Amino acid sequence: MSNILIGITGGIAAYKIPELVRLFIKGGYNVKTVLTQKAHLFVTGETLEVLTGNKVYTDNFSEDDIINAEHIELAKWADVILIAPATFNTVGKIVSGIADNLLTSVIAAADGKKVVLSPSMNVNMWDNPIFQENLKKLKSLGFGIIEPGSGYLACGDTGHGRLPEIDTIFAAVKKYMERDKGYVEKKYVITAGGTEEAIDPVRVISNRSSGKMGMEIAKQLYFKGADVVLIKGRTSVEIPSYLYTIEAYDTQSMLKAIKENISNNSILVMAAAISDFVVENQGNHKFHKSELNVLKLKKNIDVTMAIRENYEIPVVGFALENGMDIERAKEKLKNKQLNAIILNDVSAIGNNISTVRIIKENGYVSDKISGSKEEIAVRIVKELKNI
Ligand SMILES: Cc1cc2nc3c(=O)[nH]c(=O)nc-3n(C[C@H](O)[C@H](O)[C@H](O)COP(=O)(O)O)c2cc1C
Repeated sequence: MSNILIGITGGIAAYKIPELVRLFIKGGYNVKTVLTQKAHLFVTGETLEVLTGNKVYTDNFSEDDIINAEHIELAKWADVILIAPATFNTVGKIVSGIADNLLTSVIAAADGKKVVLSPSMNVNMWDNPIFQENLKKLKSLGFGIIEPGSGYLACGDTGHGRLPEIDTIFAAVKKYMERDKGYVEKKYVITAGGTEEAIDPVRVISNRSSGKMGMEIAKQLYFKGADVVLIKGRTSVEIPSYLYTIEAYDTQSMLKAIKENISNNSILVMAAAISDFVVENQGNHKFHKSELNVLKLKKNIDVTMAIRENYEIPVVGFALENGMDIERAKEKLKNKQLNAIILNDVSAIGNNISTVRIIKENGYVSDKISGSKEEIAVRIVKELKNI
């Protein structure tokens, strides 16, 4: 379990930080918070204390704080220190080597390489050359900087300087901590969800795939620092805002999106449940009830094979087999010339938990891996490193 110290300064966006704290706690982190005096204008210490289950550190040094030299202890305790929002003022103080409150004292005592800042302020403050110089200096010293969002600002102006979405900050910190050279500079194109094949302009045939497995794999690869493109069909999960996502609902659009996004250094992960059939007697107008008595199906194209035939890139497939039949999965791996296949049971579809086996072209068959799709994605991504 990692320790994260979240420093909160006196920016208007501080009111969003309790939600961010919840996200880190849900993600399995131990969270402690340090507030500047001005931060108290925008967020209450009591809320943070209840959420973190830890004392909230402020500038009101108690006798204990002095005896324990809290700023040194907190700097050592933290695996990562996030300042969100980071004000113009606090950024300026850190760059100038000023340590006149608990938060800046913690930063003075910490290795800059474990500090990540999410600055947020009015666009004119952001564009101020003094601030831009400060940012440059922080980056050159190894501090992590989370780029701000753009749009309508709390002060009424429009432009950059907005605190990014909470899940984007969470992901940026994860990426900062989990970045792995084995994935950086690799591009993963991941398909997820079920396709929809038209019966007529209104109706479709589809399947119960939620898109969760593909999305979780995309998230884990993103945390490792990979370049990730998620191509999604119909999904029933919320896709995080930090994932670059392309929507492609039917097989043909999915194939087109894959072709447009893969290149020679890509790895394709085919987690989408692509329909085995398409409708032969498809209507170009909405069928009246009396018009459609029989739905004629024909075999759909094989997207994986269509890619295989034209591109020499690693491809990871999925097999959803009754009873997790290893031999059938091996056959599929061979027929489609896959580099690896993830075998899962039919019960995985639309479910939050699953059991899988990872089978590789060299004959490796993993044990049964069971757990949440997030846990399984962590393991799959580990295996993808050597593909
Ligand atoms: C209503 C209000 C909102 C503010 N919002 C921001 C902000 O979003 N970003 C920022 O850099 N400063 C903002 N400020 C200015 C800071 O609060 C001020 O610079 C303060 O000294 C920061 O102290 P700290 O860095 O110790 O928390 C705001 C001030 C007020 C009164």
